[in-house]
Amino acid sequence: MNFADADLINAILQSHNYHTSSSDATADIVLLVTCAIRSNAEDKIWRRLERLQPLRKRGGKVAVLGCMAERLKHQLLEGRKMVDVVCGPDAYRDLPSLLARSDEEGVANVMLSVDETYADIMPVQIDSSRVSACVSIMRGCNNMCTYCIVPFTRGSGTRKVYLTAGRERSRPMESILREVKHLESFGIKQITLLGQNVNSYRDVSVISEKTRNSLSSSEFKPIYKYRTEGLHFVDLLDAVSSAAPNVRFRFTSPHPQFFPVHLLKLIAERPNIAKQVHIPAQSGSDSVLARMRRGYTKDAYLSLIDRIREEIPNVTLSSDFIVGFCGETEEEFQETLGLAAKVRYERSYNFAYSLREKTKAHRTLVDDIPPLVKKDRLRRLNEVYEHGRVKRINAMVGRKEVVLAENRNESGEWMGRSSGDIRVNIEGDVRGDLEIQKGDFVLVETTRRQGGILMARPLSITTLQE
Ligand code: 5AD
Ligand code: SF4
Repeated sequence: MNFADADLINAILQSHNYHTSSSDATADIVLLVTCAIRSNAEDKIWRRLERLQPLRKRGGKVAVLGCMAERLKHQLLEGRKMVDVVCGPDAYRDLPSLLARSDEEGVANVMLSVDETYADIMPVQIDSSRVSACVSIMRGCNNMCTYCIVPFTRGSGTRKVYLTAGRERSRPMESILREVKHLESFGIKQITLLGQNVNSYRDVSVISEKTRNSLSSSEFKPIYKYRTEGLHFVDLLDAVSSAAPNVRFRFTSPHPQFFPVHLLKLIAERPNIAKQVHIPAQSGSDSVLARMRRGYTKDAYLSLIDRIREEIPNVTLSSDFIVGFCGETEEEFQETLGLAAKVRYERSYNFAYSLREKTKAHRTLVDDIPPLVKKDRLRRLNEVYEHGRVKRINAMVGRKEVVLAENRNESGEWMGRSSGDIRVNIEGDVRGDLEIQKGDFVLVETTRRQGGILMARPLSITTLQE
């Protein structure tokens, strides 16, 4: 999300005659786009703020933007007064005025909105040499997992005020299509559709004729009462992949609840939708999943994994896991190890639980797993995951893959990612043919695994539709 927000903020500032600088040393203003989801992300920002104080002494300004800004407005502006501007995730439009008003003392706008999607702002790519981009399609989440700060609500009585990313809202499809076409015209070859709960996307600005009966897969209990009218994620994916047939599309981060079969079939049949599904499990224990309020059991999750692998041949899978959640016993943790060993993910983002204030877990559960136990469980989960990942990547050796040539390493080899998002290094150029250029889709044959990377020999320069 932060990359997409940075592009958006850049677009707003450029339209007010600000320009990007190549480093902190030459900048007059440093803007930190933050996330509050885990406490270590916040700790990093505090350390970065310490290091930016000399810039402020020279007359420069420091701004903190995004979710952490919203959450910690008072701490940031008061006390040690380490920043000049605090700007919440729904207030980016106000940034030029905040910067103009921040000469004397720190200023803030952390007002949250229930409908801001920045639909009319065309984000500017900070780095014009990029061939990949992110497009934000929705903001917020209504799922209310008990550990998570994203959809957090506060307020009293019936009037609720949404904090951080807050309540779910989707950007109109027509505005997303415009941005996709714009990026395509600038030579972008790969677009990741972004949202905190990306596959519950629902554009209600147009009432769709083809409203579908089912948004979710049947074994999943709806976590909140959702409405089904409007255009769904599958309609959006269908539209963007048809509008830009030579751009490869990915999406993140989804919830397992919203993977109906027609979505899986679309991913399988479109050559320009990556064969990669992120499917965050969080835990393999039914009792922990219930305490997390995820709305599914291990068996429901596993049957979805089977269906995804059945519908999308050679799909790669990734997950998020949280270890050491409130009350997690050794037996419950073993269930998570069992799940990771069974699925064998190509990638997994494993986190130790960090208590976030005001979440449901903070109010009703006890963060009782000692830090050393969390650390040890994280190490054990990483080991199991790594073991499975190596097996899956080994099985890809000898396969043909289509790789987007993104960068060159020191030895001049082109590096990129396969449709399944595995890093591939291409040894040599396409013989007797054209030289590989940045942004080419290259058909390769993988020859061996080196760590988490596949080495490959190039066969031809191709297109996604070929
Ligand atoms: N502690 C640890 N990990 C968390 N995540 C979200 N909230 C927390 C928390 N309080 C993880 C989840 C989520 C990912 C984006 O961050 O695994 O899927
Ligand atoms: Fe947080 Fe994701 Fe759960 Fe939404 S689905 S509450 S963003 S963990």
